Amino acid sequence: MTSRFTLDRRLPEHHLADSLRADVLAGLTAPPRTLPPKWFYDARGSKLFDEITRLPEYYPTRAEREILRLRAADVAELTGARTLVELGSGSSDKTRLLIDALLRRGTLESYAPVDVSESALSAAGEALCHEYPGLRIAATVADFGDRLRLSAGPGPRLVAFLGGTLGNLDTAERTVFHERLRSCLGAGDALLLGADLVKDEDVLVRAYNDAQGITAEFNKNVLRVLNRELGADFDPGSFDHLAVWNRGEERIEMRLRSRTEHTVTLPALDVKIPLARGEEVRTEISVKFRRAGLTDELRRHGFAVTRWWTDARERFALLLAVPR
Ligand code: SAH
Ligand code: AVI
Repeated sequence: MTSRFTLDRRLPEHHLADSLRADVLAGLTAPPRTLPPKWFYDARGSKLFDEITRLPEYYPTRAEREILRLRAADVAELTGARTLVELGSGSSDKTRLLIDALLRRGTLESYAPVDVSESALSAAGEALCHEYPGLRIAATVADFGDRLRLSAGPGPRLVAFLGGTLGNLDTAERTVFHERLRSCLGAGDALLLGADLVKDEDVLVRAYNDAQGITAEFNKNVLRVLNRELGADFDPGSFDHLAVWNRGEERIEMRLRSRTEHTVTLPALDVKIPLARGEEVRTEISVKFRRAGLTDELRRHGFAVTRWWTDARERFALLLAVPR
């Protein structure tokens, strides 16, 4: 790998030990039982997510790519970004459309992907280095839920947050996220945000409960992470994968439901979790947005939405916002 690719590990030294322990203690020992979705994404989880993006039922990736194909040139024209920062970049697959457009416009110098998954960042960084010989790639392993330290690359900066990952944060987490991001941005910088939209319950539930069971494997991967990192004894086969539309909150909830009454031991935490038959652990929320609600949410946190684009079937939105 050439020196144009750097990988900065910003997660605290004992991140897995400390942060995972704290999340598991807080989330599993009191009802309702929950686990934060960021723990899905070890190397296996990142690969499973990539498989999800190619499933016939999982429309968000295709819909967002459709918008980017049509609008990346507009984004390049409107932002003139010299640095492209991307939060939760994963494989950086769709990002290539943005990189291409910004390179064609002649402004882009540096791409700064940020992700908790080091394996995803390394694989993407290596591939991008070969594909874009003139581009500086400064990857950071970090949690975007922590205080953001965006790359010091030259401005104007465009911060992309694609895929609908904002929807994996609840209202309180989104408030903190918007405030921290807003405080990092200056005049001339912009945010490019992908957001999945409210639609038919059937379409939504199928997207999160595919016929091949890949999403079920992705969901259960968090149990494998807990087994490996905390010495837990979860049997993934003892849980059913559920995808439930919460109409009141307008969000999909992924859950794992215990098939039997049993007790799970977590030696690293010195706790035992008794699970009743049918008891559920919520492992992810995926909020679906409406234009008015999301525009207002951003406005309240200091952003003005200047462009709102959707795919032809209005399943997914890509918006451009600037500090106001
Ligand atoms: N942006 C890509 C990937 C979306 S999957 C796309 O649109 O297809 C969500 C990505 O966010 C994964 O790569 C995951 O590792 C990362 N991620 C999840 N929670 C995170 C967190 N708290 N901080 C940083 N990255 C996170
Ligand atoms: C990353 N994130 C936007 C995905 C989503 O759709 O909420 C994660 C995912 N969960 C199940 N399938 C995909």
